Amino acid sequence: QNIEMELAEFKRGGYDHFMLKEIYEQPESIVNTMRGRLNFENHSVKLGGLSNYLTTIRRSRRIVMIACGTSYHSCLAARDLFEELTDIPISVEVASYFIDRKPPLFRDDTCIFVSQSGETADTLVALKYCLERGAMCVGVVNVVGSSLSRLTMCGVHINAGPEIGVASTKAFTSQYVALVMMALLFSEDRLSKLQRRQEIIEGLGTLSAKLSEVLELNDVIEKTAESMKDKTKMLVLGSGYQYATALEGALKIKEISYILAEGILMGELKHGPLALVEKDLPIIMIATKDKLFDLVSSSVSQVTSRLGEPVFITSKNGPRIAEHAKSVADGKNDADAKADYVRFEVPETVDCLQTILNILVLQMLGYWLAVKKGYDPDFPRNLAKAVTTR
Ligand code: AGP
Repeated sequence: QNIEMELAEFKRGGYDHFMLKEIYEQPESIVNTMRGRLNFENHSVKLGGLSNYLTTIRRSRRIVMIACGTSYHSCLAARDLFEELTDIPISVEVASYFIDRKPPLFRDDTCIFVSQSGETADTLVALKYCLERGAMCVGVVNVVGSSLSRLTMCGVHINAGPEIGVASTKAFTSQYVALVMMALLFSEDRLSKLQRRQEIIEGLGTLSAKLSEVLELNDVIEKTAESMKDKTKMLVLGSGYQYATALEGALKIKEISYILAEGILMGELKHGPLALVEKDLPIIMIATKDKLFDLVSSSVSQVTSRLGEPVFITSKNGPRIAEHAKSVADGKNDADAKADYVRFEVPETVDCLQTILNILVLQMLGYWLAVKKGYDPDFPRNLAKAVTTR
């Protein structure tokens, strides 16, 4: 029995749970996703698995991304950048909803299937539907040799290494990095996007060190989880690139701590969810610096003026969003406004890469909430790592 325990401990690399190990692996796993694929001198991307299909993909009438759960969130997170860099219409589909609808699909569509396991039944049924209609089918998969990687015409392995925890962590960040590299590659024929591509490739080069910096927030996150562990509901608010981060963060919290967390687009607050805001409702506001700062600060004042208790994810040395919102609400200037909210300060990176750093905070918060509530974050109730039946 001791041998068993020692073996399990060895397999977890000394961590209490696989999920924590996989969270801490991310500074290294995203480097493995990029290894041999990014040239930081001439700012180019090479994805061997796609090279024979680039002309067809670049000529697509539209790109349809299809996935489930966390993998769906990685597609949602990447949609903005795909649209910006390729100017091709992008649609993002939950696989089960896609196959129930049986939507129009054409030969000149490119369909991108994202799956950690490569065995998710819903995603495989969607793949079959698209193959039958002659679309170009591309896979973004972690498990080499899985059904999805064998049945798609081409694709990218995310090389994140085995992910054991049922709650996906390093697969999400590696899927996102792989999709960013694909958007960069698909737009290489567009001179007008050259500078933006260079900025993003440089940002990718500094991500690993910044992820390690975010991991240093572990103790303050654990402490916050202690204060939140008895809550039964929670909101996670994001806008723009951070909307997908809010949805993914809420999924992490939901699926391992069983707290009903809902990810909400900030602009939607006043269309209903604001009615939920009350004094002791924990609200996580993703307020890292990007072009939507003013929208975010108006959402913050909508929440704080209704006694919501926001916890912030903000940019280190960025604008003090809480003070700014309070000063707007109180009609004072920022310097005088005092706001003592909990804030997790993360390093700043390129706006379309910020989700990689922000999601780490929410992965750790979900982990600590589960542990504080006495649940096993690796094997949450009712769930399986690969959902191989419909
Ligand atoms: C993620 O934390 C969940 N375990 C689940 O949503 C998962 O992302 C989904 O089942 C898709 O799995 P796949 O990536 O292996 O296709």
